[in-house]
Amino acid sequence: MNKKNSILKKHRYRFFFKDIAVDLGTNSTQIYLRRKGLVVEEPSVIAFDLARKKIIAIGKEAKRMIGKTPQRIRTVKPLQDGVVADFETTKQMLIYFFRKAGVYSSLFRLRAIITVPFGTTQIEKRAVVDAGRAAGAKEIYLIEEPLAAAIGANINVEEPQGNLIINIGGGATEIAVISLGGIARGESLRFGGNDLNTYIQRYIRNHYRLEIGESTAEQVKKEAVYALDPPKGRIQPVSGINLRSGLPESITIPVEELSAAIKPMLETLSVAIKKTFEQVSPQLASDIIQSGIFLTGGGAMLKKIGLFLQKKMLIPVHIAQDPTTCAVRGASKALEELHAMRHLELYHSRN
Ligand SMILES: Nc1ncnc2c1ncn2[C@@H]1O[C@H](COP(=O)(O)OP(=O)(O)OP(=O)(O)O)[C@@H](O)[C@H]1O
Ligand SMILES: [Mg+2]
Repeated sequence: MNKKNSILKKHRYRFFFKDIAVDLGTNSTQIYLRRKGLVVEEPSVIAFDLARKKIIAIGKEAKRMIGKTPQRIRTVKPLQDGVVADFETTKQMLIYFFRKAGVYSSLFRLRAIITVPFGTTQIEKRAVVDAGRAAGAKEIYLIEEPLAAAIGANINVEEPQGNLIINIGGGATEIAVISLGGIARGESLRFGGNDLNTYIQRYIRNHYRLEIGESTAEQVKKEAVYALDPPKGRIQPVSGINLRSGLPESITIPVEELSAAIKPMLETLSVAIKKTFEQVSPQLASDIIQSGIFLTGGGAMLKKIGLFLQKKMLIPVHIAQDPTTCAVRGASKALEELHAMRHLELYHSRN
């Protein structure tokens, strides 16, 4: 094909399609449009009125209702451990978010790329494709989240060069060795940042007889939990319900203690990384030793997680810029550069 024809073909393609990138996360759903950037960033939550059999809120508004609803209202998180656990609700949520992103138009064929966790089964993939189709996409690509996150972290995934990505999300943590546009070796651990909240809640309940809410645990984690070397002598105020008296109470807990509470999960993570490392070829291992580990996902923002892993693995650890949006930005770039990324492993469905 001559140059003019190839340019025409590329542009014809662009005129007819409207591209949308979606990161369907356990905690939040993000939508990214090429020229507009991040247009939707909302909690993956839906609130139902059971009596009237109606959805009453989606996203931020629904999240505010968690734990505060009367009997007849139920809040649902349709994704568990990163995968679609409630298909119908996921579909409703996507329809709402696509509308919010303003991508519906009879002039365009909507083309979507949606992230899925590493190791997603064919059945789960089909469920995501069906949800995307119900939301209006005519052509759908699925990309494994660590691969998308690597592209978003500006790694050239097409090279025959090993890169180790660790994406720490809310419900899942993915460890993936990426080379030649695919995942050479990977593991999806069914725990993530939300489980750290559970560890914190459990610790405070067992040691202080204080019941704290999920959002308090999340705030404590962000403010006062360190993966390594917590500051000595610092204390953190924590409020909850005293389990003996049943009354609200505010106490202070040493930051060192709170940080020790999450240690078991960090140890499990470092064991899993070592295991993945042992399974790769010597060539890939030597690439990784050179390039280091890249951390993405919200969990990459845990205080001193990079230093902790660096000390454990004895290789450099880089925290990606803007780690929570790496996957959706990477997915968008993959769709934009589809014709150039010859090796990229994607699941494609068209109707
Ligand atoms: N500053 C911070 N310190 C520690 N953890 C944080 C911080 N900011 C966000 N997190 C955690 O990151 C997690 C959410 O990450 P992310 O947005 O990547 O998840 P997700 O994509 O919705 O989930 P998944 O990929 O598992 O489906 C939450 O558990 C949140 O508490
Ligand atoms: Mg994620």
